[in-house]
Order: sequence, then C-alpha cells, then structure tokens
Amino acid sequence: MLVNGKHYRTIWLNKNDEKIVSIIDQTKLPHSFETLDLRTVEDFRCAIKDMTVRGAGLIGATAGYGMYIAALEAKNENFDDDIKKSGEILAATRPTAKNLSWAVERQIKKICDNNLSCDEKRKIAKAEAEAIANEDAEFCRKIGENGLEIIREISKKKNGKTVNILTHCNAGWLAFTDYGSALSPIYAAKNAGIDIHVWVDETRPRNQGASLTAWELGQEKVAHHLIADNCGGHLMQHGLVDMAIVGADRVSLGGDAANKIGTYLKALAAKDNNVPFYVAFPSSTFDFEIFDGVKEIPIEERGSEEVRIMSGKNKDGKVCEVQICPDSTPAKNWGFDVTPARLITKLITERGVFEPSKEAILKIYPI
Ligand code: MRU
Repeated sequence: MLVNGKHYRTIWLNKNDEKIVSIIDQTKLPHSFETLDLRTVEDFRCAIKDMTVRGAGLIGATAGYGMYIAALEAKNENFDDDIKKSGEILAATRPTAKNLSWAVERQIKKICDNNLSCDEKRKIAKAEAEAIANEDAEFCRKIGENGLEIIREISKKKNGKTVNILTHCNAGWLAFTDYGSALSPIYAAKNAGIDIHVWVDETRPRNQGASLTAWELGQEKVAHHLIADNCGGHLMQHGLVDMAIVGADRVSLGGDAANKIGTYLKALAAKDNNVPFYVAFPSSTFDFEIFDGVKEIPIEERGSEEVRIMSGKNKDGKVCEVQICPDSTPAKNWGFDVTPARLITKLITERGVFEPSKEAILKIYPI
C-alpha cells in the first residue's frame, strides 16, 4: 500500500543483502516512518515480542522470514535440530495469533522433511519465506474482492449515500504484508468509487486504531473519524453505523473469533442494533483443532505499563510518555477477547463469505 505515494510492503528481503530482512518499525508510527533491519533470530524474536511488527498476518510472515534466517544460522552438523530450536523460540513470542505457529510449522516441515543438503535447505527456507509473505498479500487482496460485494450491496440499498463502517484495532495492511483483512474491502470499495466513511476505534491500550488505522486510511485518502473506544454503541443506536468489520487473530472451527480486546463489546452492541458484524481474515488464522474459542483460544496478557502509561506527541512535537493513573494504581492488561460465532454475521476469507459455523467452514475448507 502507499506511504507518501510510494508502494511498500510491511516486510521484505533487503535488495542489497539477502541475509537481511527489513521491516517498518510500527512502534514509531504515526509520528515517524522508519524501517529497521533484522539480521539474527534474536532480532526476529524481539521484533515480534516488542511489537515492532504486529498483526496476525505480519507476525506469521515475520516468523516465516525468521525461519529463513534460522536456516542461515543453523550449523551443518546439527541443522534440523537447530532449525527446530529457533522455531520454538519464535513460536513462544506471542500466544494468540494462530499465524505465528502456522508459519513456523510450515517452514519446519518444508526445511526438515527431506534429505537435501544444508545449502539446499537454506534455499528452500528463503523461497518458503517469500511464498508465505506473497500468499498473505494475495489472500488479503482476495478478501478485499469478497468483502467489496457486501459494501456494494449496502451502498445500493442506501442509493449511493455514504456507507459508514466501524472497525476496531488495526487489521489493515500494516497487520499483514499488504492490503489488510478488515481494511482490504474498504480499500477495494474506495477504488470502486463507492462513497464510504470509517469510524476508527482508538483501541486502548496500545491505540493501534489511533496510531495505525488512522494513519493507513489517511495515506490512502479514505474518509474517516477517530472515535473513543466506548463510542460505537452510541453511534449504532443512532443509525450511524451500516456495518462493522474487524480482523481476527485466531478463529475456531466453531466460528468464534479472537481479536483485539474490546471487539466482543462491539459485537454485542452490533447485535442489539441489527448492525451486521463481519470478521475478515486469511485461512492461516484458522485453528481447526479447537471448537470453543471462548474456552480454548489462548489470550495474551501483557504488561500493566501499557494500561498505565500512554505515549503520544506533545505540543512541542516531541513524542513522550505520560502516566494516566495514580503512581500506586495496579493495572491488568488482556490483549484479546473472543467474539462468539452467534454474534458474527459472516466470515470473510480469501475463499468467500460464509456463516461462522463448523458446517460452513468445513464446506469451504474440507480438512
Ligand atoms: O496486538 P496486535 O496489534 O498484534 O493485535 C492484532 C491486531 O491488530 C488485531 O487484533 C487485528 O484486528 C487482527 S490482526 C490482523
């Protein structure tokens, strides 16, 4: 997608030295656009853990490239074991997004399940990392095509009047390698000339809506307003939301979807107000091994400082941190919640738009 009119992906092999992987440093957005080079498995571990890269698809793609770097680091005498150890290190960085373990396992299978030489395995690891990143972009592009039809229908019903779409967190191109999941249909609608406007939840505590989604939409010139996290219900009661669309970090076989904390409350409000609620994600986010998402999806608990302290730009234009509570106030910080299938209108993936039910999922994704 575009940054100051220039096309970027969120992760790429460095053109001058293919032993280096470059990323956009998302902790610096929206106030500064900076890229960063990753050279070691430890660099990859830190980038995922510290959320320099974040978002389910991008975490998966980063793990894919991390395993390529692991193949460069692996000793010839102990190659497959070294690869598996690096895989364990990367997979342990964050628990909720399924794409992470999915990408690590895909790489381990590809690299280790053969009798090739170590150098051939290294080539395979590089090709597979590129394949994972390219597939992520292509699947997101298709999610855009599939979701576009939903927006088009609403626009027709409104006789071309503005379609108001609410989204939570950042499931845009920054959360993937390109296009995004929840934002991909929005970009497709904009390109198709449909009049749209996006309500952007700020998404406390890390404010991915305010810092990333608002920035992305601004770069792509999509009309939007930032709203406080608790505003969505009020807007829905007053007919100001035509649809909600969010991303997902893990989706169960029963159609339950884990997404950034606060998503569930938006889905409840949507149900109460007959606002259609869509969840968009590529199939790498499915966890076919679990059925009950509320009981079984692992929810990340992060440090309390993310709740107690906020960062932003001050009047002098300097980025700084401020504490928003008394010095001694303790805080708790769950990163995700699970929206049960019964609150979701439809799932949108690269293969189409379908009911959030085991039957519908297995029809589209026969295991
Ligand atoms: O903690 P993050 O920023 O990695 O969380 C992921 C998200 O941005 C959201 O949950 C998103 O809506 C789904 S990931 C495409």
